[in-house]
Amino acid sequence: MQITLPHVLVSQLSDLIAMKMGLYYPQKRWGDLERAIAAAAPELDMPDTETAARHLLSTSLTRRQIEILACRLTVGETYFFREQKCLDVLEQSILPELIRKCKENNRQLRIWSAGCCTGEEPYSIAILLDRLFKKHGEEWNATILATDINPVFLDRAAEGLYREWAFRGTPDWIKERYFKRKKNGLFEIVPHIRKRVTFSNLNLAEDVYASPANATRAVDVIFCRNVLMYFSSPAVKRIGQGFHRSLVDYGWLIVSPVEMSGDSFPQFRLHTVSGTGLYQKIDSHDGHGKDNYFSFGPSSDAFYKVASVPPPSLQSWEMPLSLESMEPQILPVASSPFTQLTSVQDVASQSANQERSNTLYHEARRYADRGDLTRAVKQCEEAISANKLNPAAYYLLATIRQELGQAKEAMRCLMNTLYLDPDLVLAHFALGGLCLTQGKSREAERHFDNALSLLNGYSSNDILPDSGGLTAGDLTHVITSIRTCDSLNHRK
Ligand SMILES: C[S@@+](CC[C@H](N)C(=O)[O-])C[C@H]1O[C@@H](n2cnc3c(N)ncnc32)[C@H](O)[C@@H]1O
Repeated sequence: MQITLPHVLVSQLSDLIAMKMGLYYPQKRWGDLERAIAAAAPELDMPDTETAARHLLSTSLTRRQIEILACRLTVGETYFFREQKCLDVLEQSILPELIRKCKENNRQLRIWSAGCCTGEEPYSIAILLDRLFKKHGEEWNATILATDINPVFLDRAAEGLYREWAFRGTPDWIKERYFKRKKNGLFEIVPHIRKRVTFSNLNLAEDVYASPANATRAVDVIFCRNVLMYFSSPAVKRIGQGFHRSLVDYGWLIVSPVEMSGDSFPQFRLHTVSGTGLYQKIDSHDGHGKDNYFSFGPSSDAFYKVASVPPPSLQSWEMPLSLESMEPQILPVASSPFTQLTSVQDVASQSANQERSNTLYHEARRYADRGDLTRAVKQCEEAISANKLNPAAYYLLATIRQELGQAKEAMRCLMNTLYLDPDLVLAHFALGGLCLTQGKSREAERHFDNALSLLNGYSSNDILPDSGGLTAGDLTHVITSIRTCDSLNHRK
């Protein structure tokens, strides 16, 4: 296609898209880029292509603008059981072993389909896991997170309706067993598979992972197939680093055969099995072992703003479990009922305990990020018994309990966290999520409202404390998407 915009403008646009969305538009594809901007102009409220291009270059792109562009720039080519060879290797060799290890360590298997498009990939994984759990006589014990930048694809994925063409690589029996044929000729994914997948909007070019807030930490297997082939090579490298942070030690990264390259993923070891290649994370202690590298929970430093409050009695540790009575108890420091410290020795021993608690907490985070949840729980509990005033330890314990499927214990820990740090937006958010999984939509709404009103105090680009790079705008968006998906599910 002929370019009508000034070359310098298209060149700047191509750089902007690479930076903000990862997508690569070399000169030979500038025509496509211009066509996409032309198509997006009305939605961007711009009278013509050139005004739209200049406007996009003059502002920092909002999420809405990125979504509008994503709908015009992304490729939605996908189908069920794509690249069957790779799925066979996973089914026969890798997943059974991971399921066994997760069971041994009493944790859930965590899968992330990054760039999930309209859902064919994550639903294929859910079907595969469903068969594996049944084959081994196990209860389902896995989470599948499916993310994409394109909101239209995500809505279609959540809807779970497919045309015959989506099954072009799929044996018939899968369609018969896992889909219901509708009168209009579409096939609907069965509810017990649909509920296994959580869809969410995530732009891989943004530095928002690994983070507990969007469930992208301590992941066992990341599928990112046929996504990075459209990306610039600096973006692919950055994303490779992000995936490395998100994976547990020895976790797996699955890209498509055409996306394999030693340059892009130097932190991974490539295994070739039955003619298919899979990357494995080798070691998380590669010199980046700084605190923010371990992003399982907030660092305790952020929490110590309330450390001058004397230790709570056991009442907060043993909070009752009725949800109504579990509303965060917001206690101003000045009105704290706890007795004040009296002697110099008291102060010295309190500070030694805080220090010990801090050290134990950091160890717990490292274990948690490596997926060793049993040790992580133990260290967290020790951190709490050294200093019952350590909200970071409660919060970390909550995220681990949640991962272990111990929802009530997780809630208890989150309530303690909020008792000590009522402003911790991530804890409000996590409570909302837990309530939703228990079907308590009204309580979830309240917790999400709390989170949103705290988020109002941030500007959109502010990074939330120790969240692994998540911005206030990102979390606001995640909450809004969850609410939308929840109401969508209620309509079904
Ligand atoms: C060709 S599809 C691949 C779907 C599936 N993974 C597969 O292999 O069949 C590529 C997907 O990547 C998504 N994508 C592109 N850029 C992205 C970004 N920056 N962040 C997240 N997803 C992105 C697109 O929206 C699209 O759904």
